[in-house]
Amino acid sequence: MDMTKTTDSAIHDTVREHYANAARQVATNAAACCDGGASTALINDAWGAAMYQTSDLTVLPDTAVLASLGCGNPTALAQLHPGEVVLDLGSGGGIDVLLSAKRVGPTGFAYGLDMTDDMLALANENKAKAGTTNVVFLKGQIEAVPLPANTVDVVISNCVVNLSPDKDAVLREAYRVLKPGGRVAISDVVVRDAEPGEVREIPDTVRHDVGLWSGCVAGALEAHDYRTKLAAAGFAEIEIVEVKRYSLDDITATDCCSGSDCGCAPGAMTAEGLTEAVASRFTSAFVRATKSSPAPILTSLPMMATAISACSCGASPVAGECCDDKATCCGEESACC
Ligand SMILES: C[S@@+](CC[C@H](N)C(=O)[O-])C[C@H]1O[C@@H](n2cnc3c(N)ncnc32)[C@H](O)[C@@H]1O
Repeated sequence: MDMTKTTDSAIHDTVREHYANAARQVATNAAACCDGGASTALINDAWGAAMYQTSDLTVLPDTAVLASLGCGNPTALAQLHPGEVVLDLGSGGGIDVLLSAKRVGPTGFAYGLDMTDDMLALANENKAKAGTTNVVFLKGQIEAVPLPANTVDVVISNCVVNLSPDKDAVLREAYRVLKPGGRVAISDVVVRDAEPGEVREIPDTVRHDVGLWSGCVAGALEAHDYRTKLAAAGFAEIEIVEVKRYSLDDITATDCCSGSDCGCAPGAMTAEGLTEAVASRFTSAFVRATKSSPAPILTSLPMMATAISACSCGASPVAGECCDDKATCCGEESACC
């Protein structure tokens, strides 16, 4: 499939099929496909479970770890607090939702959102195995989040925004569901801004390669576009931090076990024009931004000023009256002039 000639729904279908395969492989094999059980993380340390602390992984079901197909560790970077409500866009096998649920504790809650039935089934099995109760996995698309506005403290995501054919809609939806003051904490593949002398344009042959799109590479935004889109969605305090600069080996090993042919050797994922110089423009990045709280309502200030200048005191706004006997007039000194 040439990505230039596809509709949004065709891209969703292709991506869904790709990740349904990945989920089935984990579910049926209890491990990814290669060498009788090596996960993506063991094949290349740039993706999946390799991005987590061992202490995080040991508390999770094996199938949640093996299904890890991300490019970062957003829960570690998001600084989650007890009692917060978290939403994971493109939750896959549920690794970041289960970790979030632990971090926000019994007074908090974690939602996972995914469009792929097999991934949702795997995530729900992992939830049951982990014995987690403060979690719900929702079916839907990240371009139209099935949650009300202003209900979430933190939107996280791990290597999914790049897969969307409509990134503006994704970021608008993240903004809509966040409470004022809420934040996004996204791990994603991002094309870093070119340095002098570097390849400037990612070749069309790479951008339009369907395997590299489903493998989280071809759809990656340029860093400056990411910032522009976040700002257009309404976000402030935008920050994009490079976590890891990929090599050609990293890129060609991306998500190697989820393709239909399950080719696990490095180099399984390639395209014309994908050179070391092009690959090095791709990074794992951490993207954060905030939905500003509304500005304080200033209309009350002139009234306050009037009250002070008139030396008002409860129902008796007579200048001077309250100041003679503060205790009986106002009950407390600070309420008087
Ligand atoms: C690369 S995997 C990442 C899964 C998970 N975040 C992780 O770190 O393991 C991408 C996941 O996002 C889901 N996904 C991709 N595009 C989506 C979309 N537009 N709406 C909802 N889910 C999507 C896929 O079904 C898949 O489970």
